[in-house]
Amino acid sequence: MKYPKLQGTFVLAPMSGVSDVAFRVLAKRHGAAMTYTEFCSADGIIQGNDVTKKQFYIDEEEDPVGIQLFGSTPETVRQAAQLVEGRAAVIDFNLGCPAWHVLSQGCGSALLAEPEKIEELVREVAQALHTPFTVKLRLGLNDAHKNYIDVAKRCVSAGAVAVALHARTTKQGYSGNADWSAIRELKQAINVPVIGNGDVFTPEDAVRMLKETGCDYVMIGRGARNNPFIFTQANQLLATGTYDEITSEQKISLFWEYYKLAQKHALGFERIKGHAMNLTKGLRRSKELRVALGQTRTTQEIVALMEAFDE
Ligand SMILES: Cc1cc2nc3c(=O)[nH]c(=O)nc-3n(C[C@H](O)[C@H](O)[C@H](O)COP(=O)(O)O)c2cc1C
Repeated sequence: MKYPKLQGTFVLAPMSGVSDVAFRVLAKRHGAAMTYTEFCSADGIIQGNDVTKKQFYIDEEEDPVGIQLFGSTPETVRQAAQLVEGRAAVIDFNLGCPAWHVLSQGCGSALLAEPEKIEELVREVAQALHTPFTVKLRLGLNDAHKNYIDVAKRCVSAGAVAVALHARTTKQGYSGNADWSAIRELKQAINVPVIGNGDVFTPEDAVRMLKETGCDYVMIGRGARNNPFIFTQANQLLATGTYDEITSEQKISLFWEYYKLAQKHALGFERIKGHAMNLTKGLRRSKELRVALGQTRTTQEIVALMEAFDE
């Protein structure tokens, strides 16, 4: 099995609390070549948990999409992957999350301390699936323990068909800079697609990562959270050397597009509020609006504020 050949280069990162079905469709419509769900708990999937079900619900408009799982044992991740695989182009496994509640369950980047266990897990899951299986990792636990090349090679030999690398250690969290030289090194070390990730905030960053590292695809997280139009812009820059700036009007209209999709998928107030806050960041004269959005208690209040906003 192989990683799908994508119609484009720039992909939306899995982001818990952000990469919901409505936001993924929005990113896809605005140029993302691929999107990933927020990480879904393997245990939650097996237990039929309603929150988890919503996280991996896929709209007919979005294809290809990767469903990302987190878990700690080969059996639970295999079982969960088999339960959801029909819906996805790819099943991805999280080896990068630095959040304490995930690490303390032995999941996410905690597993980077146990490369043999990762290899065993990837082998068991990849062999059981009819869908390509991939991994997303960090550099290692800390500066003294950067084992991404070893882990990536083990994953590939066990059946992973692509590797995404967020070029920071677990200890770094989101501090410091992503080390893009590690992405270049990884690309030279393995023979499956490498998806580079970390600190792409502008279309220029996206194209520069591609050129400097030789990675196959560029994954964008925080830079897309406030501007899903970044995918269109990066596509334009790559193809023509220039791109259109996003206007305030377009940003507001992205919110309404998100809102319609959120309604279609019955997403709740907290999601809509989060995306309203993200999508209005950086707008001219939006300070008061964003303060007011922060105080809303209902979706109707958000809608009223957005309708009244005159950029
Ligand atoms: C709010 C938020 C939630 C995230 N949730 C996930 C997740 O569920 N799974 C995952 O692999 N990475 C997650 N990440 C990490 C991103 O996928 C990405 O690796 C990281 O943000 C670096 O990329 P960026 O610099 O383009 O943001 C999350 C990041 C943020 C900011």
